[in-house]
Amino acid sequence: MCGIVGFNGHHEAAEILLDGLTKLEYRGYDSAGIAVRDGSKDAKIIKAKGRLDHLKEKTDNGRSVAGTCGIGHTRWATHGEPSENNAHPHCSDDGNVIGVHNGIIENYQELKEKLVRNGYRFYSETDTEVAIKLVDYYYKKYLGTPVDAINHALVRIRGSYALELMFKEYPEEIYVARKDSPMILGVADGESFVASDVPAILKHTRTVYYIGNLQMARVGKGEITFYNLDGDEIEIEPKTIEWDAEAAEKSGYEHFMMKEIHEQPKAVADTLHSAVKDGKVDLSELGLTEERIRDFQQIYIVACGSAYHVGVAAQYTIEDLTDIPVRVELASEFRYRHIPLNEKSLVIVISQSGETADSLAALRKAKEKNLTTLGIVNVVGSSIAREADHVFYTLAGPEIAVATTKAYSSQLIATDCIAIYFGSVRGVLSDDRCAELLDALEKIPQQIEKILEDKERLQWFAAKQSNAHDVFFIGRGLDYAATLEGSLKLKEISYVHSEAYAAGELKHGTISLIEDGTLVISVLTQKRLIEKTVSNMVEVKSRGAYLMGLTTYGNYDIEDVADFTTYVPDTDPHFAISLAVVPLQLLAYYFSVSRGLDVDKPRNLAKSVTVE
Ligand code: M6R
Repeated sequence: MCGIVGFNGHHEAAEILLDGLTKLEYRGYDSAGIAVRDGSKDAKIIKAKGRLDHLKEKTDNGRSVAGTCGIGHTRWATHGEPSENNAHPHCSDDGNVIGVHNGIIENYQELKEKLVRNGYRFYSETDTEVAIKLVDYYYKKYLGTPVDAINHALVRIRGSYALELMFKEYPEEIYVARKDSPMILGVADGESFVASDVPAILKHTRTVYYIGNLQMARVGKGEITFYNLDGDEIEIEPKTIEWDAEAAEKSGYEHFMMKEIHEQPKAVADTLHSAVKDGKVDLSELGLTEERIRDFQQIYIVACGSAYHVGVAAQYTIEDLTDIPVRVELASEFRYRHIPLNEKSLVIVISQSGETADSLAALRKAKEKNLTTLGIVNVVGSSIAREADHVFYTLAGPEIAVATTKAYSSQLIATDCIAIYFGSVRGVLSDDRCAELLDALEKIPQQIEKILEDKERLQWFAAKQSNAHDVFFIGRGLDYAATLEGSLKLKEISYVHSEAYAAGELKHGTISLIEDGTLVISVLTQKRLIEKTVSNMVEVKSRGAYLMGLTTYGNYDIEDVADFTTYVPDTDPHFAISLAVVPLQLLAYYFSVSRGLDVDKPRNLAKSVTVE
């Protein structure tokens, strides 16, 4: 949610800021703005409503704004509608403090009232303007340094923030502070960079600093000083980013989503190979001892959105292969619910970004209860990766499209590896069975390639169906988990209303929504459940549904019931979801394209949800 960039160096800042914002536009795109200083005390602030292109037009791609020090922001609105007035940067009444912010200031009303009592006026509806004026208030009250003023403000602010500020009297510096919202800093060739995510600065430097919670930094030209909440200087070790800069480009694909769909074979293979040693799934490097693994009596999987859907799938796989009871929880519920937690539990938090606010809060709750925590995370150095006791990194590389595809697929593989490893350690799976399962997993990348070779039929089908008003997805067992993801993909990028149902549940209410021509997509890869789901297909067909079947090669009888059938290669049923999800991703993609929508940046959404 919201992208932040900053630059302080010798080159013109505006062009670098706009380039960085382009890489972060997936984080929010309802307005954007930059503030640039050319060494003088006066900064130029330019903002525009809508996509970043409007800001680029307004500034002649940054060429009309001179100055070598600046900050920028692309917004996903929380407080106040998307408008130029609410767009960042915001500034104090006399322009003394200018800033951008990602996060939510929970007590902004109370702080605003205090500032109004002290003579401040407000022009926007944002919590950000309050934060900036609060810093200005303390700066003037105590006549200290910017770090002192920010410290005082941080003590009063409740909520989450990545704040980036410029002070009139320090025209050659930027100041940043962070709590629970992502922010990284980098230095290269006497210049400094700030961003809320790696892609924005990857082409300038691979050496980055992850600023910690309640820490601050003074960003000079090519030198950064870090501070704790007491204002004392602290050391932060730099980290090297392994991602390749090209990985964050479209490389000839029309959309990031299609590029990322095609990157799935590699993402899956890389993630799998990171967990295989000497021909066996071996996760000993996670740091969980075999004794601990044998001792677990319960696993909780906690996540949001598609990562939660991975959890639903993993529940079936892990329970089946390890005999450990698994509960899947939405992080937003888990964090507030009273749960009688078993001390011998493992809490697995799944998150691509590693910054999702609810997932992070759920992780912290689990840690407070002294439960063992394991993060399955894609972004190295993210909050969840840093705070979890153990981390399994998915190796999907940067994922830019808001709709997740390759990260989801890598997360599935990570949970499959956990299931096999735990099953083996606990003696539930024999060596032969483990070898058989690994053999099936090894084939998944090339099987995904095969599905991708035959996407034109899906494109044709999607074009024909893209005017649908409602779509229902049905399946049983792991097929139900696949439908949850297929339905979310469809609704988030094509804006077509869709629902996923466990096939057996339809007749308990939802079947009343089936009318002549309603599209029902049925997933049938779980051999022992296919007949049951076919019965449910027949039930909806007799009420007028138009049926699509998604099944494995060989199950050609499905064509007797379905109006359109598509096939995926056969594999072990535990892993069939890794294949079934691919046509569902493609279907959603082609629906969106047929409807002329922005596939990579669907309305109202943002890539990582760092607010509640
Ligand atoms: O970064 P995370 O994996 O924690 O994100 C969780 C969800 O916000 C994310 O999966 C979301 O549902 C995607 N837009 C789905 O495509």
